[in-house]
Amino acid sequence: MKDILKAPFIVEMVRTTTNMYNHGWDERNGGNISLRVDESEIKEYVDIDKVIRTIPTGFDAPELAGMYFVVTGTGKYFKNVQYDPEINLGIIKITADGKNAQLLWGYEDGGQFTSELPAHLMSHMARLRIDSENRVVMHCHPANLLAMTYVHDLNEKAFTRTLWQMCTECIVVFPDGVNVLPWMLCGTNEIGKATAKKMETSRLVVWAQHGIYGAGKDLDETFGLIETAEKAAEIYLKIAHLPLVNTITDDNMHQLEERFNVKARDGYLD
Ligand code: 13P
Ligand code: ZN
Repeated sequence: MKDILKAPFIVEMVRTTTNMYNHGWDERNGGNISLRVDESEIKEYVDIDKVIRTIPTGFDAPELAGMYFVVTGTGKYFKNVQYDPEINLGIIKITADGKNAQLLWGYEDGGQFTSELPAHLMSHMARLRIDSENRVVMHCHPANLLAMTYVHDLNEKAFTRTLWQMCTECIVVFPDGVNVLPWMLCGTNEIGKATAKKMETSRLVVWAQHGIYGAGKDLDETFGLIETAEKAAEIYLKIAHLPLVNTITDDNMHQLEERFNVKARDGYLD
């Protein structure tokens, strides 16, 4: 077996959690990540027949049966992942019935996967139906997006249009816009189902007064997606109280669609 601490999927998780902490997006145990990894890759680093523990997920994820995920632990601090990956991260395999997670590595202090596993796995299911390349679901608490949910209309079209208007490249990075959920109790199957439903039409889902979910093909891309939306929210908060003199017009955005070969969400531009 190769050294798991050198596995690209663990190294990338360590780098990403550290980077997210350094961006201020993951105070205390805030935030969680799940990364889907192929069996062929996992097998190089862990004995996939050696199950350490079987942990019920509390919901059905039949479409994910047999799939492997690296998942951050519940109650664990992103700031600490770099020092003890084997305590703060775990590798799980979803059982054939789609109801349990077999722990193959990690959570060495007896811990378990994030309390937000419903939102993660249900979102993986939703995104995989649209894009078989989807590997990452990422949740965090970036301050500007969170702040924006206190002062901006939560209507998805209005919220998206404001973000698109804040930085030229927003519409290129997230042409599907952002979807928004009203405040809901976190860590539940209900918020998991609602998030997954929203993931059907956008890879970004804002949880009002809580944070954001992003989905993508790898950690870098998903990080960049959230980073771009968060930057836009930061600009919004810098200007929202000032008289608006200039903006990015819908005509400008149509030019961006053409130049970058993207299609803005239907009905969102005039
Ligand atoms: P976990 O510590 O269970 O991952 O929860 C953190 C969080 O952000 C809840 O939404
Ligand atoms: Zn959270």
